[in-house]
Amino acid sequence: MNPQTRIAVPPCAEAGAPSPLAPTGRPLKWGVIATGGIASKVTADIALLEDAVLHAVSSRSADSAAAFAERFGFATSYGNDDGVTGYQRLVNDPEVDVVYITTPHGQHYDVGKAALTGGKHVLCEKPFTINAAEAEELAALAADRGLFLMEAVWTRFLPSVNRAWEIIHSGELGDIRWVQGDLGFTAPDDPTSRLWDPKAGGGALLDLTVYPLTWALGSLGFPDSVSAVGTLNNDGVDLQNAVTLSYEGGAYAQLSSSFIASCPGQATVCGSKGWLKTGGGNLHNPKELTVKVGQGEARVEQFEQVGAGYTYELREVTRCIQEGLTQSPTMPVSDTVKTMRLLDGIRAQIGLSYANDAA
Ligand SMILES: NC(=O)c1ccc[n+]([C@@H]2O[C@H](COP(=O)([O-])OP(=O)(O)OC[C@H]3O[C@@H](n4cnc5c(N)ncnc54)[C@H](OP(=O)(O)O)[C@@H]3O)[C@@H](O)[C@H]2O)c1
Repeated sequence: MNPQTRIAVPPCAEAGAPSPLAPTGRPLKWGVIATGGIASKVTADIALLEDAVLHAVSSRSADSAAAFAERFGFATSYGNDDGVTGYQRLVNDPEVDVVYITTPHGQHYDVGKAALTGGKHVLCEKPFTINAAEAEELAALAADRGLFLMEAVWTRFLPSVNRAWEIIHSGELGDIRWVQGDLGFTAPDDPTSRLWDPKAGGGALLDLTVYPLTWALGSLGFPDSVSAVGTLNNDGVDLQNAVTLSYEGGAYAQLSSSFIASCPGQATVCGSKGWLKTGGGNLHNPKELTVKVGQGEARVEQFEQVGAGYTYELREVTRCIQEGLTQSPTMPVSDTVKTMRLLDGIRAQIGLSYANDAA
């Protein structure tokens, strides 16, 4: 693996790093866009950072925004009003420093464009957009405006995951030859759910693959070629998929994501001398690593976590903005664009397309 493709360890995940909650005395004012499932979980972690101010939340519904503001202690809330969307009103608020986008992915491009145009730094949920063209446009806009932009791949910032990279790149496992990662659950049979809605970017590939992919990227980097199979439903979104990444030199990564099968949700990294396996939670947030080298006993390493695990990415966003960085070295926009190109290629192979592709 080219050392330049290695994922950089963020300061918050270095051995002996202070808690991600340690205050800097330079508060940032946050604006959270949308009030669904992940907005609640991550906002609870934003609230743990002493240098984060929960300034504003927006929703399509003024009542939802007000209830969310009340629940978490935001100063202001915005709903759709008089033909102006709640998120547009939030990004027009001069007090907001950084926006966290938590709408379904079909809307990430529009909301991200509005936020960057409004002069806000942006943390955007995964998958970053529906396709690479949208991601490239947002990347160019952020660069043009000198604003911070990052996809919220929180897994890259976890101490447990960075310890895995350390083990993998130390040579303890030998040459890495094979990586396997899966994530899947039986999604509710609810046609109104964003998970199934083509306009929201429904389907397992865009929703889940970023996590098994993180283990391939951290172990082997971006691949030289990809082959994929997938099963689509009658609305044309994928129920599940299986992806093989191939590397010069003969290594492979096999990744699967499913909305119709309950899966262990683990990653295994195998080398010429030994292997590493995640545990103690799904591969997006492992609290345990099992390492076995040669004929020796397996060793288990366990990890404490601050908050629900999002605190590490939030610390990194805060650090980068405070230091005037427009990208995180750990989750650079170039990796996001390459990921979206990879997903575009997989979608072409399995016949998965979205309305955003025609825009
Ligand atoms: N990092 C993670 O661990 C993680 C976990 C889950 C999901 N995610 C990602 O986060 C995003 C949201 O997922 P979620 O599970 O939170 O979904 P969710 O529970 O359905 O919430 C999404 C929210 O977005 C708003 N919304 C829905 N449809 C919209 C539309 N057409 N236009 C604009 N806003 C709309 C709604 O909020 P309002 O009614 O307030 O407008 C809705 O509650 C997805 O991209 C997903 O991949 C990340």
